[in-house]
Amino acid sequence: MNKTAIIRCEHFNAAHRLHNKNWSDEKNKIVFGKCNNPNYHGHNYDLEVKIIGYCDPETGYVIDTKILSDLIKDKVLDRFDHKNLNLDTEEFKDLNPTAENIAITIYNILKPEISSDLELKIKLYETARNYVEYPY
Ligand code: NI
Repeated sequence: MNKTAIIRCEHFNAAHRLHNKNWSDEKNKIVFGKCNNPNYHGHNYDLEVKIIGYCDPETGYVIDTKILSDLIKDKVLDRFDHKNLNLDTEEFKDLNPTAENIAITIYNILKPEISSDLELKIKLYETARNYVEYPY
């Protein structure tokens, strides 16, 4: 039997500011552009959580999507949706909330919650044209 991937698509909105406090305001503006706006700005994030594994012979599921969607809601959406990532979350108090770091953080939150015989991959769209994958 081959492994199968199942993907749950979710969505959240959040504000952020990309900023390196060790740099001058000028350098921050050059490097991060609009995402360095001092008063923050929002993104509509699309999140794809991919679970890869063998189908359970009794259920035919890799993972029950109800369990997966509840898990994403409890651990990720309730934590980040409609939040200012820099100000409202522990995770990004000292970590620049780039799409890369958000995807890695979501992976690290979900990984311990998912059976160790399943693989987890995160895809996070910051815009329709920019997305990141972790692990790639
Ligand atoms: Ni931004």
